[in-house]
Amino acid sequence: MLESAIPAHLRQERTQPARAPSSGLQQPAYPSYSARFPTSAKDLVMAVIGVQYASKSDAEADVETGAGISKLMSFTKHTSSSSSSPTAAPSFAELASATDSRGFFNVAVLAYWTSRATYDAWAAASGFDVWWASLDRPQDEAEEEQGRKGGGGGDGDTNGETRRGWFREVFFPSMDRLETIFTDDQVPEGAGHLGVGSISGPVREHGYWGSMRDRLPIAQTDALAGEKWTGGGTEVGGAERCSRVRVPGKKNLAIIRSGQDWSATRSEERTLYLETMHPVLARGMGFLRDRGGEVGCYSCRFMDVVGEDDQNNDSTDRTFGLAYFDELASLEAWSREHQTHLDIFRGFFRYARSLDNSIGLRLFHEVLVLEPEQQLFEYIGCHGGTGMLASLA
Ligand code: HEM
Repeated sequence: MLESAIPAHLRQERTQPARAPSSGLQQPAYPSYSARFPTSAKDLVMAVIGVQYASKSDAEADVETGAGISKLMSFTKHTSSSSSSPTAAPSFAELASATDSRGFFNVAVLAYWTSRATYDAWAAASGFDVWWASLDRPQDEAEEEQGRKGGGGGDGDTNGETRRGWFREVFFPSMDRLETIFTDDQVPEGAGHLGVGSISGPVREHGYWGSMRDRLPIAQTDALAGEKWTGGGTEVGGAERCSRVRVPGKKNLAIIRSGQDWSATRSEERTLYLETMHPVLARGMGFLRDRGGEVGCYSCRFMDVVGEDDQNNDSTDRTFGLAYFDELASLEAWSREHQTHLDIFRGFFRYARSLDNSIGLRLFHEVLVLEPEQQLFEYIGCHGGTGMLASLA
């Protein structure tokens, strides 16, 4: 029995047409599921907070200093001793890395909180806000300020040998502006970790183009038009490192985190994945990263999920594409029409058929379509092609 991906309390009479085929839905070829959140949840927070290095070897050299990604993790691991906000730490966090179009190496914490209030409480209680504000200030001044506000110590070597850029990209979706889809109902990913083990049964809205929009509660009544962008390619944005820059949010910016986990594949499938799917996926992500402006994509990182003790190791069994599109229609058009996603999509059905549809590969995505005030983009010492800095070029 299929159920709607949109939970009952977020269902509305449609003023926008559903994209499901008018001839009626077929039983999808394989089941997919959506995360379920408490009906009392109003919003959640997804944050991408990271460090940028000129090269991977710079990142490796920085691991021992405790000042780069380890410093960020010291905040995300913070747990409050206050009885009024005992769980200010993110409900879920993991590390991922990616080399960008300029060859810079980026390591980020991806963290999730159950509400904006919890995120704000964490940012204050952990000392993150004070530390972040100190990042581009002279070392002495920053340390003095940290001391006064109890921010937990300075950056260590802000003016030292290691040149770091910092970025934070924080999203505050209300629950009607988020949709998730998983091919597996046992292993949570991303925002699915906030549902505390809660996942739907097999959902109706998948297996046809437009099903992403049909799963998104706000799309029942809103066409979700954004600000069209046709920016440049690889060289968009200046080469020099920026000072502290906040980039304004965009109307109906569409954010996708689309993940692949082949850790449960056995030998034959594993080889097939690595030899046939992964290279095609990497090409698609490379296109969005380097030439995304052609299809309305501001930024795309193809990221390796990495272990805490192995921050720069890129040979894990989980990856994801994290991309920001000017509007949902552009993301739909790329996935439905562009050869790079069509190759991924068709390759997947060949892959599944050759394994008699018995596959260990897990796929998921989460999509957010946000109002400007639900986005926070800030960059310190990053090159001009980083994330949403590209939108300023
Ligand atoms: C939809 C395959 C990676 C963007 C789909 C669908 C499949 C698929 C089978 C249809 C899903 C359904 O409705 O049941 C894959 C595979 C991937 C992959 C096998 C990797 C191995 C990505 C990545 C992105 C992406 C990295 C973007 C960053 C989309 C979008 C849709 C979609 C936006 C929804 C289209 C719509 O409903 O209108 N993909 N994909 N995919 N994919 Fe991918």
